[in-house]
Amino acid sequence: MSINFDGKVAIVTGAGGGLGRCHALELALRGARVVVNDLGGGRDGSGGSAGAAQAVASEITAAGGKAMANGASVTDASEVAAMVAQVMEKWGRVDILINNAGILRDKTFLKMEKADFEAVIDVHLMGAVNCTRAVWQIMREQAYGRIVVTTSSSGLYGNFGQTNYGAAKLGLVGLMNTLHLEGAKYNIRTNALAPVAATRMTDDIMPPDMLEKLRPELVTPGVMYLVSDDAPSRKILCAGAGGFAVAKIHETAGVFIDPESLSAEDVAANWDRICDEDGQNEPGSGGDQTMKFLTMASNSN
Ligand SMILES: NC(=O)c1ccc[n+]([C@@H]2O[C@H](COP(=O)([O-])OP(=O)(O)OC[C@H]3O[C@@H](n4cnc5c(N)ncnc54)[C@H](O)[C@@H]3O)[C@@H](O)[C@H]2O)c1
Repeated sequence: MSINFDGKVAIVTGAGGGLGRCHALELALRGARVVVNDLGGGRDGSGGSAGAAQAVASEITAAGGKAMANGASVTDASEVAAMVAQVMEKWGRVDILINNAGILRDKTFLKMEKADFEAVIDVHLMGAVNCTRAVWQIMREQAYGRIVVTTSSSGLYGNFGQTNYGAAKLGLVGLMNTLHLEGAKYNIRTNALAPVAATRMTDDIMPPDMLEKLRPELVTPGVMYLVSDDAPSRKILCAGAGGFAVAKIHETAGVFIDPESLSAEDVAANWDRICDEDGQNEPGSGGDQTMKFLTMASNSN
């Protein structure tokens, strides 16, 4: 199965460097017209310059591809709307959105200021919300859309010093879960990427020999599949150094405890059975959980 994006228009946020740049270059190489968005600021979100986006757009056009540079901040809904209006005027459609822009403000929870939470949640979570809102109606009308949100192992599993980042990143999984449900009827598929790669985000936390194995180019093939015609939906693809895996949120089969006598001690006494992984599954929506518990209750009568 070969993957190409001929005739497709893609927006990649934060594509002025790191992973986003690799995604943008590969999309263009495979035929997409690409909007290279990047605020061009520092790793902590400070400053900004159109130079980063322009450099990658120029790299694409120099190689014979089609690209448009854009310096909007994903945190600014009106700048994002203007970017999408410009794309619609020039290319008439938006097929692919890769929400990749991100910043870091690492500190332990004790030292983390509220402003560090707000800034990180604003870029990662609200940035993805702003960009997705700007293209959602277009994708519905086209009956075609492929969206990727960029989550992280820090959100899925935790990471010391990253309460703000982890909260924002798992928020993106919540966003994906419901975009998947609401987009299904319109052939809009949404997936999450949990990458690990040597970029400016990680260049001071790992030794050079590890970074050498974590080239960002090795993550991008996974993203190309997630935005292809045959993409899955509502998957969390973990990728790095040539390794690929899927993370899943499972719920155990659980137990039913008679409501007439139910107490905290019953929950404690049943803890091993509540946690037992035998028969666990991945609910299709929040409603599946409600139905499971109601079915248990009905079956007990
Ligand atoms: N590198 C990793 O190992 C790793 C691991 C997990 C998740 N991620 C995620 O992957 C994504 C890409 O990160 P990266 O590692 O390539 O780092 P990076 O710093 O090279 O890329 C992030 C890009 O986003 C841009 N950006 C920041 N704020 C923006 C804004 N408001 N509007 C538009 N652009 C903005 C930056 O200018 C930068 O070019 C991020 O969402 C990051 O959280 C990376």
